[in-house]
Amino acid sequence: MKKPRGILIAGNWKMNQGPRETEQFFSQLKQMIRPDLFQKDLLKACVIPPAVSLEKAKKEAPSYVQIGAQNAHWEKKGAFTGELSGPLLQELGISWVLAGHSERRQYFGETDSTVRKRAESLLGQGFRVILCIGETRSERESGKTEEVLDRQLSETVPNLNSYLDGRVILAYEPVWAIGTGLTATPEQAEQVHHWIRNFLHQKTGLKTAEQTPVLYGGSVTPENIDSLLKCPNVDGALVGGASLKAESFYALLEAGYKAIG
Ligand code: PGA
Repeated sequence: MKKPRGILIAGNWKMNQGPRETEQFFSQLKQMIRPDLFQKDLLKACVIPPAVSLEKAKKEAPSYVQIGAQNAHWEKKGAFTGELSGPLLQELGISWVLAGHSERRQYFGETDSTVRKRAESLLGQGFRVILCIGETRSERESGKTEEVLDRQLSETVPNLNSYLDGRVILAYEPVWAIGTGLTATPEQAEQVHHWIRNFLHQKTGLKTAEQTPVLYGGSVTPENIDSLLKCPNVDGALVGGASLKAESFYALLEAGYKAIG
């Protein structure tokens, strides 16, 4: 199967796994993992632990697993209680960050405009940004999926043509599929991913559209990932629940390797 952009498996741990569990996770993962999984440079892995475990993860993760933060502020320093900044993350050697996850939008007042500010600032500081978009159940049921994605892509995604090095990674995460066990079918996922690719083509040109990875997220498991990765426009997965155990994260990586062929 052709996977021109390779496959990225990213595990979002959300508010789970302190430093002790993080250490255990990586010690188990290192026993399971075959380094040749990453030899072709087409499979990429990223683990996104809570802030308190970033340092431990960075120390314990094998070199082929990137470590990312779940959120970071657009300012580099200042009076922003509870936030992390690019320079604080860089001090730990972290260079990947998530932006605009639907849980941040839903529970913490994140808007398209703040997501864009975060993404632009962090990209400017050299980070790789996984930027999440996706519709709610009622938006899908009322036929507004494309309208919502159009708005989110137009308002939250920085000028992609400035980042042709794959540093902007989009994650399509239908909100109704996150943590619910209701995965989008491969047909539903491919339909939206194809639409996103087309949108990027129209707005940014063919080259950017072809180079920008688009992950799928929402109840991905080792059982359903194969059929999702078979979709031509799905370039990997952003996984919550099924990324918490080393065994299951490893199974997702194996699936990624298999999909590359
Ligand atoms: P889930 O979470 O895999 O547990 O549905 C995905 C996500 O929120 O990124």
